[in-house]
Amino acid sequence: MRLLLGVSGGIAAYKALETARLAIRAGHLVRVIQTPASRRFVGAAAFAGITGAPVLCSEFEPDPARGSYPGEPLPAHVPISHLALVERADVYLIAPASANTLAKLAAGAADNLVTTAALAATCPVIVAPAMNSRMYLHSATQANLALLAGRGLVVLEPGEGELASHGERGIGRLPEPAELLAAAEQAATQAPAPAPAPAPAPGGRDFSGLRVLITAGGTREPIDSVRFIGNRSSGRMGLALAAAAARRGAEVTLILANVALTPPAGVRVLRVSTAAELADACRAEFAACDILLMAAAVADFRPAAPVAHKLLKTGPQAPSTVALEPTEDVLSALAERRRTGQILVGFAAEHGAGALARAQAKLARKGIDAIVVNDVSRADIGFESDANEVTILTRDGDPEQIARAAKSDVAVRILDRVQHLRAAAAASGSHVH
Ligand code: CTP
Repeated sequence: MRLLLGVSGGIAAYKALETARLAIRAGHLVRVIQTPASRRFVGAAAFAGITGAPVLCSEFEPDPARGSYPGEPLPAHVPISHLALVERADVYLIAPASANTLAKLAAGAADNLVTTAALAATCPVIVAPAMNSRMYLHSATQANLALLAGRGLVVLEPGEGELASHGERGIGRLPEPAELLAAAEQAATQAPAPAPAPAPAPGGRDFSGLRVLITAGGTREPIDSVRFIGNRSSGRMGLALAAAAARRGAEVTLILANVALTPPAGVRVLRVSTAAELADACRAEFAACDILLMAAAVADFRPAAPVAHKLLKTGPQAPSTVALEPTEDVLSALAERRRTGQILVGFAAEHGAGALARAQAKLARKGIDAIVVNDVSRADIGFESDANEVTILTRDGDPEQIARAAKSDVAVRILDRVQHLRAAAAASGSHVH
């Protein structure tokens, strides 16, 4: 498992060091983040030495490991968000959790990296309180712990016995490292609670409570300061999906790559240009979404050495070839990190005969739930057109052919199909939120 260990201030911070060591010995990947106060007890160098990875303390500090866990390949791009570590974690253990950190967590404060990560976590979060017994038994601390447990955090009971302050005994000891590790392992393997199949809400708002992430448009890969390699995608299909999902009550985030058209009202819009920027934005948003509709046309290659100025047509600089390098397959990368219950839909523009067979192979290769295929050899549909004619392929269902229709109608049919996929996943026991 990927264990993110949050360390707050307290003498028991030394036990966090031992917990990290045990976890690594058990084969887990561990990253550590610290509150500034915790560094007075155990310094970052000790954790870095044990984990073999940089230790972060501030949300403004760049992560030299770019959000990766030890042993994982270094991502090619610096993540936009300082939350990459918690997004990728299977479990987030805050040990020791000081009275002050617990109070901040209860209030939803995000004033340092440890509290910010807790607020952004979608994985199980465990808090292991450790403090003086009078602080632990204070009604403020008890109320904070009850609140956190009520929100679904795992609250570990502190032990009784000798406390750090000389001669004092009582409750407030941090559990032993082996117990902390066992709690983390247990939380990481627990499946989320089963949820009933989605039922259409009144007024057709059957997407309310669902977060839908949509990419649209086409990426541009710079050759020099004015030229780029792009594609003809206008973003119309993605915008139609965003409008339809918002109308049905979804909370929509729309990542637009070079889209000139106006996005629908009521959706959150993020703008990107290159495939790398699109990848970063998707990575930052993906963990929080229930449904991903990947309608953007993402460049498969980019110039290997873009030039910062404008290339001249003649003279020694004039290029006769542009060397290309592959870009990351964003959708496949996201599919590898999917949570149970997330639905991922890809879009494939295929040309001519064999389109469906190629798209079916792509669906399997990318590890997604459905792929929406259109034939770009036809001039009357697809790029820059308001109409589309598509086939929706899923892993096991029959292909669903949607006859030529306005993109807004095609969007409705795609969303209907997403609801079927959610219902099927819920029925088969792979739990959908
Ligand atoms: N896609 C992606 N990242 C890429 C390329 C494509 O996320 N670098 C996504 C697209 O947004 C789309 C799906 O993958 O949802 C299929 O895109 P397509 O270009 O057809 O797939 P490729 O894997 O590039 O296949 P091909 O070799 O046919 O171009």
